[in-house]
Amino acid sequence: MNSYAQIYRDATLDKAGFWLDAATAIDWVKAPKTGLDDCNPPFYRWFPDGEMNSCFNAVDRHVLAGRGGQNAIIYDSPITGHKSTLTYAELQQQTSKFAGMLADLGVEKGDRVIIYMPMIPQAVVAMLGCARLGAIHSVVFGGFAAAELAKRIDDCTPKVMISASCGHEPGRIVEYKPLLDGAIETANHKPDHCVIVQREALEANLVAGRDLEWNAALDAATELPPAPVKATDPLYILYTSGTTGQPKGVVRDNGGHAVALHWSMRHIYDMRPGDVYWAASDIGWVVGHSYIVYAPLLFGCTSILFEGKPVGTPDAGVFWRVISEHKVKALFTAPTAFRAIKRADPDGAFLKDYDTSCLKYLFLAGERADPDTINWAENQLGVPVIDHWWQTETGWSICANPMGIEHLAVKLGSPSLPMPGYEIDILDADGAVLPAGELGAIAVKLPLPPSCLATIWGADDAYVEKYLTSFPGYYETGDAGYCDEDGYLYIMARTDDVINVAGHRLSTGQLEEVLADHPDIAECAVIGVADQLKGQLPLGLICLYPNCNRLQDDIMAEAITLVKDRVGRVSSFNLITVIERLPKTRSGKVLRGTMAKIADGENWNMPATIDDPTILDEIKTALQSVGYAGGKR
Ligand code: COA
Ligand code: AMP
Repeated sequence: MNSYAQIYRDATLDKAGFWLDAATAIDWVKAPKTGLDDCNPPFYRWFPDGEMNSCFNAVDRHVLAGRGGQNAIIYDSPITGHKSTLTYAELQQQTSKFAGMLADLGVEKGDRVIIYMPMIPQAVVAMLGCARLGAIHSVVFGGFAAAELAKRIDDCTPKVMISASCGHEPGRIVEYKPLLDGAIETANHKPDHCVIVQREALEANLVAGRDLEWNAALDAATELPPAPVKATDPLYILYTSGTTGQPKGVVRDNGGHAVALHWSMRHIYDMRPGDVYWAASDIGWVVGHSYIVYAPLLFGCTSILFEGKPVGTPDAGVFWRVISEHKVKALFTAPTAFRAIKRADPDGAFLKDYDTSCLKYLFLAGERADPDTINWAENQLGVPVIDHWWQTETGWSICANPMGIEHLAVKLGSPSLPMPGYEIDILDADGAVLPAGELGAIAVKLPLPPSCLATIWGADDAYVEKYLTSFPGYYETGDAGYCDEDGYLYIMARTDDVINVAGHRLSTGQLEEVLADHPDIAECAVIGVADQLKGQLPLGLICLYPNCNRLQDDIMAEAITLVKDRVGRVSSFNLITVIERLPKTRSGKVLRGTMAKIADGENWNMPATIDDPTILDEIKTALQSVGYAGGKR
């Protein structure tokens, strides 16, 4: 195989030709003759004349190739004590039934289906079954509250919703059905039907005429073959946090997605068909979409579906148990999972009980991989630890160390070099390209390679405004950083009000919108503060109305509950403090960045435009009261 440098050069010189060549790895109903449609910039489309089906490529073609007996999915659920497998042949049968059931319920190509489910095999069947029919799925993470689900229902107007009676979190059962019912009640749009998986731990009440039980509905359905769709037709919508409370529905196409993900399995992750691949994430996040479901199956691997936590289910040895028991070759997770394991078992005592020699690589993404965690993981596991950088918007990595091409020199703190098709520049505020070593906005030249977002669902204007306007000719990543002399990229911060909590993107603006709804809160700001386990945590600073005479502790507790009820527990919102006033510039802009630096004990400069510098002393004292800014955590 050519070197990374050669492959990257080829892809840069002839982007369309490079990916058209990669597209031959996919089975097409109608093979594309054109790589890129660039007639309507800044909207670009990959493989405009191609037709295919993502489910066929992820399932049927492996059965046709004689590998129907191979495990497609190994479900391992330490939290419930269940394990099971689905072969490719079984997956083919179940997705065919599922697609038939959707059709019976009136779902047609292009209709939306929301999947709000825990990490169970039926969730994978549902995603692929939608793809089989050409319906567009939108998976909503189970940790989101009813109000968040309602926003997504109104945005993508699903005909059918798929859910389960409950999820399992350590020490508690999460009842999904009341959340689902609550969301449907709040939303303006009403789905025609809900299909519910009844789990052993809890039986949900079904609404007559609207709700169907999963097994009965599938049993009654006839199997459907994969429907040909255009490569440019949407496969799914996945919502991600922006700067406001309104989530953005990232639209992913079918053809470009399949081609890029298939390419990544061989070239970035160094996998072969039949290998066992484990992305320890959740299907509700992009990592779960791409690397629990689509990429491993498109490539003919066995994918692990893990319903548990890195610690506490039952202990910090569970990752090693899963690796050794299922012969995992590559593990992909967020650094926070390894920080949790390291904290619970710093000397790696649990590792001694397991033979993990099958593991060849650990891949990390979702947040900054701190050198301590990388070194610890490398010492414990004795395999390369590969940091790579990507986003919900791209669906696969922008920068990585491509293990299937060559093992590039590792530079701690950097996710290495751009993957084919991504041309990165570091820009100043005016859009001028900055030299090596200088910090700026990270931007990717248009057109983006296959799999990257086609648009925002129902909002082409918002897509252009949010991503393509600040720097004409570029996609704005929202991350800031720099490149070194060798072109290695370093991701340093977000340029917007998005924070990263345990590898999940959270909008501080969204949390502020919820806090501002509390009747006693006059003003508020939410900042991201450093946390040893989760990377960052949200911290709320609230100002109460002058005439408010209620106990501050009561108001703070109510505010925390409000955020958890409206956004969901996944917000990890537990830090809050009352202040007299917010520090602002003379033009009224809240100084969130300065407060975050004070909280984290970083160097900061007094902003020249600050309204009243004495406020920052009050802020420091308030932050100390919750353990930050030199307070005791
Ligand atoms: N349904 C309902 N609630 C959920 C949920 C789900 N699917 N997933 C998480 N939650 C809840 C948790 O129970 C927790 O509630 P609590 O704060 O009331 O206890 C809250 O949301 C926060 O969850 P989480 O961020 O997962 O924190 P945790 O303390 O339970 O676990 C880690 C910490 C580090 C173990 C966990 O964050 C982890 O495994 N991270 C891996 C990272 C990852 O998967 N990243 C995805 C991108 S690669
Ligand atoms: P999400 O869309 O939720 O996957 O979050 C994407 C964001 O997570 C990126 O824009 C970065 O801010 C951050 N991120 C992801 N991977 C990395 C990484 N390897 N290093 C640093 N930050 C990362």
